[in-house]
Amino acid sequence: MSQSEKPESTPSDLWGGRFAEPTDAFVQRFTASQGFDRLLAPQDIQGSLAHARMLTAQGVLSAAELAEIEAGLAAVAEEIQQGTFEWRIDREDVHMNIEARLTEIIGDTGKKLHTGRSRNDQVATDIRLWLRESVDAICAELTRLQQGIVDLAAAHTDTVMPGFTHLQVAQPITFGHHLLAWNEMLERDFGRLQDCRSRLNQCPLGAAALAGTTFAIDRHMTAAALGFEQPTRNSLDSVSDRDFAIEFTAAAALIATHLSRMSEELVMWASAQFAFVAIPDRFCTGSSIMPQKKNPDVPELVRGKTGRINGHLMALLTLMKAQPLAYNKDNQEDKEPLFDCVATLGDCLRAFADMVPALQPNPEAMGRAALEGFATATDLADYLVRRDIPFRDAHEVVGKAVAHCVAEGCRLEDLALETLQGFHPDIGADVFDVLTLEGSVAARNHIGGTSPQQVEAAVIAARDRLNAR
Ligand code: ARG
Repeated sequence: MSQSEKPESTPSDLWGGRFAEPTDAFVQRFTASQGFDRLLAPQDIQGSLAHARMLTAQGVLSAAELAEIEAGLAAVAEEIQQGTFEWRIDREDVHMNIEARLTEIIGDTGKKLHTGRSRNDQVATDIRLWLRESVDAICAELTRLQQGIVDLAAAHTDTVMPGFTHLQVAQPITFGHHLLAWNEMLERDFGRLQDCRSRLNQCPLGAAALAGTTFAIDRHMTAAALGFEQPTRNSLDSVSDRDFAIEFTAAAALIATHLSRMSEELVMWASAQFAFVAIPDRFCTGSSIMPQKKNPDVPELVRGKTGRINGHLMALLTLMKAQPLAYNKDNQEDKEPLFDCVATLGDCLRAFADMVPALQPNPEAMGRAALEGFATATDLADYLVRRDIPFRDAHEVVGKAVAHCVAEGCRLEDLALETLQGFHPDIGADVFDVLTLEGSVAARNHIGGTSPQQVEAAVIAARDRLNAR
C-alpha cells in the first residue's frame, strides 16, 4: 500500500471551500490517521452500506443511486483486500480515503453517501463494530483456554500439592483445585467482556456531527442492519464518549493481570527447585551462552505484556478525562492503544490456550513438596478441637509440636505417639490419619473445598458452564 505525501499546492479537496491556503505538510502528517485506522475499513464499508440503504428506504437516495454506491463500495473493498488500494495521507483517515475513492470510481453519486452523516458518528460506529468482533474473538480464545485448564484439572482431581500463603507452605491442596482457581478468575473475566459487549452494542449512526440530522432518518433500521441492540439515546454522548473502549481495556488489563499471575506460578513451577510442571520444549527457548538452559519465555513474556496492556488503559483514561462534549480530535488517539490492546491480549490468550494442555505436571515432586513445611499442622489442631480443646489452645499445642520438629529436623507424622501425647494427653493413635496429605485434602469436603470429591464435582459444573456459552 503506497502512502502519498505530495504537498498540497491548492487548498484541501476535502474542505477546501473555507480555506485560503493548503494544509502545512507536517500538519497533514500530524493530523492524519489513515496509517492506522485503515484497520477499520471493513467496518467502515459495512456502516456505509447500512447508512445508504436506510437513506434509500427513507427516500433520500434513489434505488439507482444505492445500486451505484453498493457496487462502488464492493469495488473499494476488493481493492483494499487485494492491497491495490492507494491510501492517501491527503485524505486524512479511513473514512475520507474510502469516500473519495468511491467517488473516483462511481462519480458524483459517491458524494451523496455522506448525507445525514458525519465522520463523528461514523467513526464511533466503526470502532464499536470492530470492538464487538474483537470481543467475540477474545471470548473464543478465553473459552479455549478455560477448556484446557478444566481438562487438566479433571486429570488431577486427587494430585496433592502444597497450597501456599505468603509463598510459604500452608496446607495441602489438590492440583485440580489450584487449576480451578485459575478457571474462576477467567470466568469472571468472560463475564466482564460480556457486560462490556452489551453496553457497546448500541448504534451511534444518526448522531451525525453532534446534534443529529435534518433528514428523516430511521435509526432503528441502521441499528438492526448492523446487529446493534438499539440506537444510542443521546447524539452528543454518541459521538463523544469512548467509555466502551476504556471498559474493554480495563477488562483486558484484568485478564492480562490474571494471566500474569498464572505465568508467575508457571515460571516458579518450571524451575528445578519446584519441578511441579515441565513446559514442553516448543514453548521454551534456550540461552546463547549457557548450554543447559531451557527458559520459560512464553509465560515470562505474557507477564511482561501485562505492563503494556495496563499502559493502554491509562492512556485511554487520560485521553478521555478532560474532554468537553461533544467530539474532539483527541479521540483519534483512542485507536492505537485499543488496537494494540486487542492484538496483544489475543496473542497472550492464544499462547496460553496452546500451552496449558501441553503442560507436563509432576505429581511426585508436588507430593514431596507438600510433605515439607508442616502442611498438616492445621489438621492436627482441628483434631484436638474435635476432642473439645478450644481452637486457640489447640493452635498453641501444635505450634509447640512444630517447634520441636524444627529443632529435631523431622516431620509431625515422624513423631512417636508418646511424644505427641507429651504435647497433649488427648492425642490418640488415630491422629496419624489426619496427618497424611490424602487425609488432609479429603477432609475439606464442602462446596469450594479442595477434596478430590469436590474437585470432581467442580470440574463437571465448570464444563457445564463452558458448554452453555
Ligand atoms: N479520524 C477521526 C477520528 O478517528 C475521525 C473523526 C474526525 N472528525 C472530525 N470532526 N475531525 O476520530
